[in-house]
Amino acid sequence: MDTCFCLCVRIFIMLWCCAVCGTDISCRNEAGEPVDWFIIYKLPRDKIGEVGSGVDYMYLDSSVGSWQMSKFMVNTSQGAIGNTLNQLYMGEAYKSNSSVYALYNDAPPILKYLKGYGHTKGVLLFNRCQGFWLSHSIPRFPSFPEKGYLYPSSGKVNGQTALCVTYQYEQFLLIAKQMAYLYPRFYNCSVPAAFLADMPQLAQLCKGAKPPLASDKAVEQLFSIEGEKFVNFVKSERFVDDIYTGWVAQALGADLLVETWQTQGHELPSNCSLPKHTMNVKRIQLPGSILFLSRHDHSKWCVSRVYEEQVTCLGDLNRERAQMWRGGGLVCSFNPLIYKAFRQVVDWYIGC
Ligand SMILES: *[C@@H]1O[C@H](CO)[C@@H](O)[C@H](O)[C@H]1NC(C)=O
Ligand SMILES: *[C@@H]1O[C@H](CO)[C@@H](O)[C@H](O)[C@H]1NC(C)=O
Ligand SMILES: *[C@@H]1O[C@H](CO)[C@@H](O)[C@H](O)[C@H]1NC(C)=O
Ligand SMILES: *[C@@H]1O[C@H](CO)[C@@H](O)[C@H](O)[C@H]1NC(C)=O
Repeated sequence: MDTCFCLCVRIFIMLWCCAVCGTDISCRNEAGEPVDWFIIYKLPRDKIGEVGSGVDYMYLDSSVGSWQMSKFMVNTSQGAIGNTLNQLYMGEAYKSNSSVYALYNDAPPILKYLKGYGHTKGVLLFNRCQGFWLSHSIPRFPSFPEKGYLYPSSGKVNGQTALCVTYQYEQFLLIAKQMAYLYPRFYNCSVPAAFLADMPQLAQLCKGAKPPLASDKAVEQLFSIEGEKFVNFVKSERFVDDIYTGWVAQALGADLLVETWQTQGHELPSNCSLPKHTMNVKRIQLPGSILFLSRHDHSKWCVSRVYEEQVTCLGDLNRERAQMWRGGGLVCSFNPLIYKAFRQVVDWYIGC
């Protein structure tokens, strides 16, 4: 009876929301339909034994089950990312006072790179009912709302990842607090007056101010619109450590295989000093014999070494010394399908 009641309440809330908000802002799949979450893996141009276009990508969501080669190019607005962002670009949601949005990137399009902000990239767009949080690794992306969907040529050469999750409004209250730790560079945003009381942190970030923090890091559980659990780890620049070794591996209680962008001479080596270890991935093999080296991959993700732990995280930071002093975070999932997709593509890692 309880579950039935809950279901009824949920359905009622959803119907009420549709009536009140009109549109259902959400992550969109390759066909433009709403989805709970999706992940894309944009392939690097330089693969082993092959030079690609730099704009092809693989797509994953709960209905496709495993990596699918997209028939679209990432520099057109036809794929999942374009379909999702077009809710901002085409719907002109950016002019609306009934929705909140933020485009953030330490390396924004056009503008100069400023140090001091978090090393984090993404998009928030939501109204009083729901919306999406897209977090990704692509520099100078996405374009300003007035420009429409554009993909920068600087994002073509290396591999990149993006994770989009659809959340109800209440979850964005938590995400707003998490954002304060990241201290992202909001290069274009709008937090209309009606949202100020609910999320003062987003309003401050949107004005270019730095919200006060209670601590140097924070972890929060987030539930997608379909109830999928994501755990969000965020650190400010005041937590000076490698997020993977110094915190997340120990907090999750799992040895991690970490794929990040490590420039030669600056990389943190695989580390087995603490109870849980972090080991650098060196080569990736995606389905269809797509083989490439981590030094051509700008994405940032990790998986538990052992299958039983089934954890996958996507995020902001590289295993590089300088990144210990930057704000940034990870969104972790315990979904077996996501785990399988990422664990299976680890072709070679450096143990210790
Ligand atoms: C996308 O990128 C490819 C490869 O660089 C290029 O050939 C194509 O013209 C681009 N398309 C658009 C719409 O920019
Ligand atoms: C929101 O925008 C509408 C239409 O532009 C306007 O009528 C309304 O007064 C605005 N509301 C607030 C709170 O600014
Ligand atoms: C950014 O966002 C604001 C408010 O939504 C908008 O008015 C402004 O023109 C936008 N564009 C740029 C280039 O700053
Ligand atoms: C391993 O990582 C921890 C936490 O970041 C650090 O304190 C320690 O010095 C590292 N050990 C080595 C050998 O790099």
